[in-house]
Amino acid sequence: VIGRIAANLGTPAYLVGGCVRDFLQNHPVPDIDLAIEGDVRAVAEACSAELSGVQCTYHAHFGTAILQYPDGFQLDLARCRIEHYPAPAALPEVQPAAIQTDLIRRDFTINAMAISLDPEKFGDFLDPYGGRADLQRRLLRVLHPHSFLDDPTRILRGLRFAVRFQLQLEANTRGLLEEALTQDIFARLSGARLWRELKYLLELSDLPAALEELGAWQLWPLLRPTPLEVESLLAKIRRGQQEIRWLHCHFPDEKLCDTAVLLTILWRDIPWAEAEKRLHYWPVADGRYILNDLHRLSKIPAALAAASHPSAVAQLWESLSLPGILALLAEYPESATITESGRYYLLKQRGLTSPLNGKDLQAMGLAPGPQLGTVLRRLHDARLDGAIKDKETARQWLIR
Ligand code: CTP
Repeated sequence: VIGRIAANLGTPAYLVGGCVRDFLQNHPVPDIDLAIEGDVRAVAEACSAELSGVQCTYHAHFGTAILQYPDGFQLDLARCRIEHYPAPAALPEVQPAAIQTDLIRRDFTINAMAISLDPEKFGDFLDPYGGRADLQRRLLRVLHPHSFLDDPTRILRGLRFAVRFQLQLEANTRGLLEEALTQDIFARLSGARLWRELKYLLELSDLPAALEELGAWQLWPLLRPTPLEVESLLAKIRRGQQEIRWLHCHFPDEKLCDTAVLLTILWRDIPWAEAEKRLHYWPVADGRYILNDLHRLSKIPAALAAASHPSAVAQLWESLSLPGILALLAEYPESATITESGRYYLLKQRGLTSPLNGKDLQAMGLAPGPQLGTVLRRLHDARLDGAIKDKETARQWLIR
C-alpha cells in the first residue's frame, strides 16, 4: 500500500538497511526503515490519511517521518540522501539524492541493500555493492575508505554486526580500522555517542564473543586501559548478573542501574583516574556513585572482617551504592562473611530507620541543630545493634 501511495506521488519507496539484511538471513526484523526518493512528508501524511488508525509524525529537521500503527508497529521513513562530513566524526550535512547514492553513503555493504516497493518494480532487489555475497561469505566490508573516519561509531556498530552475524573483517576494512585507530579517531567523538555504542555492545546477548572481538579489534582501551582475561571477567559478570536477579527477586520494585554493576566489575582493578576520565565524558546514569564505590571497595572486605557491631557492618555497606554492593558480592562469592553480611544488610538492615524522628526528639526537649542528626544516627545504630526496638525503648535508651 505504501509503495502504491508513494508511486502515485511520484516518489518511489524502498525497504532499506538493516531490515533487508535481516530478511535475507531469516532473522527477526525489529525495525523497518523505508527510503523515499522524494517528499517524505507527503508520503507519510498520505499513508496516515489512507490507513486507518495510523498516526504520522514528521521531523522537519531530519527530513524523517514515523508511521505509528495502532498495534504498536512502527515504520521509519527517511528521504534518500547523500551525506557530507565537514570534519572527521562530525555530524553530517545532508542533501537529497537517488537510492543508489543513498546506499553508498551507508556503513557496510550488508546494510546497503534495498527492495523496491514501487508496484511496477515490486520486490526488485537492489544490491549494487555486493551485500548479499558478503553475507554469504560472512564478510564485513565498508563501502568507502572514509567510512570509519567520517563516523567512528561505525567501528562499534561493525563489531556488533560481527558478533551478531559471525562476520570476519574483510582485509581492506581491517586496514581502514587500523588506520582510523592510529588517528585516535574516537577522541573526536562525543562521550554521549561513544557511550551509546559501548552500552549496546555490553548489552549484546553474546557478551563473551563481544569481549573477544573487542580484543581482536584492539578496542579494549575504549573501555579500560588494559585488556582483561575474558574467561575470569565473564565469570565475574555472570555472578554480577546473578546478584542483579537475586535483588530483583527480593525487591521487584527496586530501580537498579545494571550497567553501573557491570562497569564497577570492569573497573575494579584500574587506576581510579582512568575510570574518572571516562565517566567525565560518558553520560552514565549513576556515574558519580560508581566513582565513589571504586574509591571504597578495596577497603571494605578487611573492614567488614574487623567490624565488631552490626551497626558498624551496616555502615560499611551503607557507604556503597546498590550497584557497588552487588559488584562486591559478585567479586567474593566464596567469602561467607561478605556474602552473608551483604545479603543481611540488603534484606534486613537497609530499610531500617530510627524509631524516633526529629519531631519526636524536639518534643522531648532537644534543640534543633546538628546534634539532632547525631542523636538520630545513634538511635539508628542502637536499633541495628538490637539495643532498642520501638519508640518506647528508644525513649528509655535516650533518657539513660
Ligand atoms: N547507518 C549507517 N551509519 C550509521 C548508522 C546507520 O550507514 N552510523 C545506516 C545503515 O545502512 C543501517 C541503517 O542506517 O542499516 C539503519 O541504521 P540502524 O537502524 O541504526 O541499524 P540497523 O542496520 O537497522 O541494525 P539494527 O538491527 O542494529 O537496528
